[in-house]
Amino acid sequence: MPRIVCIGGAVQDIFLYQSSDLAPVCEQPDECFVELKLGAKVDVNAIVSGTGGGATNAAVTFARQGIEAAFYGVVGDDLAGAAVLQQLDEEGVDTRHVVHSSKHQTGVSVLLLVPGGERTIVTYRGASTHYREEDFSLDMVQADWLYITSLAGNMQVLNKLVAQAKQQHMKIFFNPGKGELEQAEQLRNVLSHVDVLLANKQEMQQIVSGDTAAELVRQALNLVPCAIVTDGPRGAVASDGKMVVAAGQYDGEPAVDRTGAGDAFGSGFLSQWAQGASLERAMWVASANAASVVAQVGAKAGILPRYTELHDMPLVVRELPHQLQRDKGASTPEQSDETVADTEVEETQEEADQ
Ligand SMILES: Nc1ncnc2c1ncn2[C@@H]1O[C@H](COP(=O)(O)OP(=O)(O)OP(=O)(O)O)[C@@H](O)[C@H]1O
Ligand SMILES: [Mg+2]
Repeated sequence: MPRIVCIGGAVQDIFLYQSSDLAPVCEQPDECFVELKLGAKVDVNAIVSGTGGGATNAAVTFARQGIEAAFYGVVGDDLAGAAVLQQLDEEGVDTRHVVHSSKHQTGVSVLLLVPGGERTIVTYRGASTHYREEDFSLDMVQADWLYITSLAGNMQVLNKLVAQAKQQHMKIFFNPGKGELEQAEQLRNVLSHVDVLLANKQEMQQIVSGDTAAELVRQALNLVPCAIVTDGPRGAVASDGKMVVAAGQYDGEPAVDRTGAGDAFGSGFLSQWAQGASLERAMWVASANAASVVAQVGAKAGILPRYTELHDMPLVVRELPHQLQRDKGASTPEQSDETVADTEVEETQEEADQ
């Protein structure tokens, strides 16, 4: 079994839901609001307290899949920090390298959920945005993969970790956060060392240009050997420079909370990819893990255990057209014309929409 080190945010999540006061008001289909009147008291009928932060969510997927996982990050010396550590300990994630900040409190998010899984988040990022270079070192670490989620835009720490990981012959999976995406030029330098890049559609559009997930994946292959673009309920597309896999939606219980979908997808993918599974298998497990997570409240509750039996799902697997294959070195921005894969990706995603 591989060993994976996860680095990034750790927070406590408090979900508040089942409230008629939190009904969304939509001006456009994709522009909705929850209206909170100043001075009002908003009653909710359900509360769930859990832990979040991309790196802790990913570490729990790996642990449940039987992979040795460690979490590196920062928490404060407080109850929220203790809750994060307790959950990771219970899941069997190695927390020996967690840094305890005496200056900053653990991050806490309050998530106001509306029916269907969308939510508005009020967040205090706290300790998980205060990374210091001296806090983390991979010098003595023996692991196969480094799974990096947001480092709050701290490029110094990111560069150091990436350099150390490469020195240690670790492979790198990167799901950049807002802070990293805002520093495009520095991000591109980092990407030259990244083995697998995951981003949702809007995030990937900040790195490369393209309208569809398939197009974005193809453009991203100019920067990394393996790229994945997720597109919410429409599914995801990935390519390793040889094959393209388009995944629609994995059928499951209805979505109630989309928190952690991206983390579940990325970590579900790597749990297989790191074991040498095919791109198709990795996308299948990724989709099933994400669908299971969105069907429960909280970013970790639905994470799948090892040996979960999967049912069929819409998956299109194609060889990347020859002239676009990364190894042939011919993948340039001019070659973004429609391919067989593109059409089928759209069809798969449309199927998922219905
Ligand atoms: N409503 C849903 N039903 C089923 N699966 C879903 C749903 N929403 C998302 N997924 C799955 O989760 C994956 C990731 O979702 P999405 O693209 O929203 O990630 P994200 O924007 O990174 O989310 P996050 O807010 O967790 O960072 C999708 O590719 C899909 O497989
Ligand atoms: Mg995400």
